[in-house]
Amino acid sequence: DRKIKIAPSILAADFADFGREIRAVEDQGADWVHVDVMDGHFVPNLTFGPPAVAAFRKHVNTVMDVHLMIAPVDPFIDAFAKAGADILTAHVESGPHIHRTLQAIRDAGMRPGVALNPGTPADAVEHLLDLTDLVCVMTVNPGFGGQKFLDMTGKIRRLREMIGDRPVHIEVDGGIDVVTAPLVVAAGADVLVAGSAVFNGGSVSNSARYGENIRAI
Ligand code: DX5
Ligand code: ZN
Repeated sequence: DRKIKIAPSILAADFADFGREIRAVEDQGADWVHVDVMDGHFVPNLTFGPPAVAAFRKHVNTVMDVHLMIAPVDPFIDAFAKAGADILTAHVESGPHIHRTLQAIRDAGMRPGVALNPGTPADAVEHLLDLTDLVCVMTVNPGFGGQKFLDMTGKIRRLREMIGDRPVHIEVDGGIDVVTAPLVVAAGADVLVAGSAVFNGGSVSNSARYGENIRAI
């Protein structure tokens, strides 16, 4: 379905309180929970690995959307399946065998996604669209929350055309807020990842603010 989904990125949550943060954004209307895995190699930052993701799983009642910013991906697919990822997204730039990687993610029982860095053209996923449930268009260079939105609306439009009537989501990730969300939705995106724009101004003890932020987006 093309209902617009909001996926708060817990990269912008309180790292000492993930369980309550996840429950708070879900209570406040989040459709999915977005988990950013970084390895300090594919991207210049480190976050968390499979044991942490398994701990998050106990608190996620919606969909756990795991975005891997790691290379290589293949040695970790089983660990993320065991950790309970529903969607596992790998970058098209993460290695030469992304086609095999997406198949391996499906074989491990998860829904595969493929992400595109801002510098990578839509055509890079042309031969992957029958293998994937989601294309994630990065609207920042991945690695950090709170960066300025890069306009990828032309790429999103092109992808929507390429996808045709396949059941493939277009997710956008980076710099999504009340100003940029309408632009990407008009271009054809249906899953909006937002970190700062959801968590800013709120906390687990003031989670009504998360709800206001989600509804505003
Ligand atoms: C960027 C991550 C994003 C990030 C988005 O590397 O993939 O998911 O958390 O954060 P905001 O919404 O603050 O740009
Ligand atoms: Zn992400």
